[in-house]
Amino acid sequence: EKGTYPHYMLKEIDEQPLVMRKIIQAYQDKQGNLEVAADITAAVREADRIYIVACGTSYHAGLVGKQFIETMAKVPVEVHVASEFVYNMPLLSEKPLFIFISQSGETADSRAVLVKIKEMGYKALTITNVPGSTLSREADYTLLLHAGPEIAVASTKAYTAQIAVLAILANVTAQSKAIKLNFDLIQELGIVANAMEVLCDSKEEFEKIASQYLPFTRNCFFIGRSLDYFVCLEGALKLKEISYIQAEGFAGGELKHGTIALIEEGTPVIALATQENVNWSIRGNVKEVAARGANPCIISMNGLDTDEDRFVLPEVHELLTPLISVVPLQLIAYYASIHRGCDVDKPRNLAKSVTVE
Ligand code: F6R
Repeated sequence: EKGTYPHYMLKEIDEQPLVMRKIIQAYQDKQGNLEVAADITAAVREADRIYIVACGTSYHAGLVGKQFIETMAKVPVEVHVASEFVYNMPLLSEKPLFIFISQSGETADSRAVLVKIKEMGYKALTITNVPGSTLSREADYTLLLHAGPEIAVASTKAYTAQIAVLAILANVTAQSKAIKLNFDLIQELGIVANAMEVLCDSKEEFEKIASQYLPFTRNCFFIGRSLDYFVCLEGALKLKEISYIQAEGFAGGELKHGTIALIEEGTPVIALATQENVNWSIRGNVKEVAARGANPCIISMNGLDTDEDRFVLPEVHELLTPLISVVPLQLIAYYASIHRGCDVDKPRNLAKSVTVE
């Protein structure tokens, strides 16, 4: 039930801090340490390469998950869109492990890959929100998202839950390989939950951004580098699916290789700046588009901010920034959709669970 909320999407965005806390609880042992079933961490540890397969928003979570697994657990990862992977498989490694990420657990494109790799004799882990779903039943292992039912077609809390569970999987695998990490993930995810709450309490700010930048525009660009780039892909998907504004996410460095030709007087460009090592270069990209007439909106993080920023996110661990930088993008998309009179929870031409290939 959406209760006092006008839309499920807004309710689900607001549930994200609670979902973070539920996930921390669900993946903790009695001593208060993070815990994932030993056969699952063993499967990740023993794989020579991990293939993450997913669609849409879940694919975007996979891109972030690759960074986690590679940086923390030191296992190489490839991320693939299921509908492409099924007929255009890369040369597989000797001991692959497949990870399917799917909110519904029913996505036909992902299932087609699962069926195929099972026939080939490989093992699969499904990360899903729905216990007993097809992808969960047919895989060897399952990790649950604990996000509660997601009703709005545009995925929000499932995305952040997927990222949190992938972080936990990477972290616990690292521990099982005796890799020393210099942060405590439970504590850092707690900080994320608090930061999400601050953002959910700042809705008027994001409504203002939506009404300042997006009410009449035909298109909108999202730019970022490194982890911010992956969040930009997700921010653009959210905006296009519920507001019908043509939106694209780009890696800051790629702009000059073509896309910058699209910048016109007043084109909104939302830039994420949460990564220290690329802070200077993404700000350079903002200057380039601004010089060509764009209307830039910089969302940065506390500690990396400057006077030109439109919104400054509370500081969280650098690896976990996607968990909080996506929240403003979800809310901006939500308000843009409302301002343009669109059906937020049931956008045209889309279904919540895509059970056809
Ligand atoms: C976007 C969205 C879709 C889904 C995609 C995969 O907001 O919801 O892109 O992420 O259809 O769905 P699942 O995760 O159920 O496999």
